[in-house]
Amino acid sequence: MRLWTRSASLSVMGMPELIRPTVRLGESFAEAIDEFIAEGRGGPDDNSLTGDIIRNFANRREGSTWVADFLEFEGRWETDPPEYFVPMSVYWWVEGDRYLGRISIRHRLNQQLSDIGGHIGYDMRPSARRRGHATAMLAAALPRAAELGIDRALITCDRDNVASRKVIERNGGVYEDRRGKKLRFWVPTRPRGGGRPDRQEWLSGETRPVL
Ligand SMILES: CC(C)(COP(=O)(O)OP(=O)(O)OC[C@H]1O[C@@H](n2cnc3c(N)ncnc32)[C@H](O)[C@@H]1OP(=O)(O)O)[C@@H](O)C(=O)NCCC(=O)NCCS
Repeated sequence: MRLWTRSASLSVMGMPELIRPTVRLGESFAEAIDEFIAEGRGGPDDNSLTGDIIRNFANRREGSTWVADFLEFEGRWETDPPEYFVPMSVYWWVEGDRYLGRISIRHRLNQQLSDIGGHIGYDMRPSARRRGHATAMLAAALPRAAELGIDRALITCDRDNVASRKVIERNGGVYEDRRGKKLRFWVPTRPRGGGRPDRQEWLSGETRPVL
């Protein structure tokens, strides 16, 4: 049986929440990107969004001076994406003034997203991992996907990404198939009888995973 309980450390520090990216937390965001760099991300083979942020913004400027430009660039993606890309909305998972993670929702699928990328991508800063944040962040983001008209979201993860697979399955993800090294799951964006923790339950502290 799965146990869910209030996390002492989280309740002391405040409730994590999903917000729109903001330059107000730019320093915290830049510190998080430094954590990704420290764990080896941002190399030529890192074809994730975080890899792009590191190569195209963080590695080119000092401190957090690049964050405003990055947010402006990424913000345009919501209504006016680059050619061959689909519109994408980004949210941050934050606790007070501390940036923890990000999640992006692609408004529709193209062929590449249908095969590999999926509707939703996310990551959590290394120092905030293994506390249930990604599971809760996805739970909080699914209603936003529903608002965009996505009834079930395709979410993929690498075959060996145990943590991401659990995040998906904890949110009701149903495995469909494997394409290359990617596993593909469909996740309902509206609660259907308790497949995933409800956001309000999470915020009230009744359904947090034991740390
Ligand atoms: C994947 C990722 C987002 C998970 O974030 P997180 O906040 O640590 O996830 P959670 O704390 O919600 O953990 C979810 C589950 O994975 C487990 N888990 C977390 N990290 C793990 C690890 N390194 N190895 C094994 N299990 C792990 C947790 O114990 C939890 O399992 P449980 O539900 O049985 O308790 C984070 O590791 C990350 O940002 N990784 C790099 C980017 C990435 O892989 N993004 C996803 C692309 S598909």
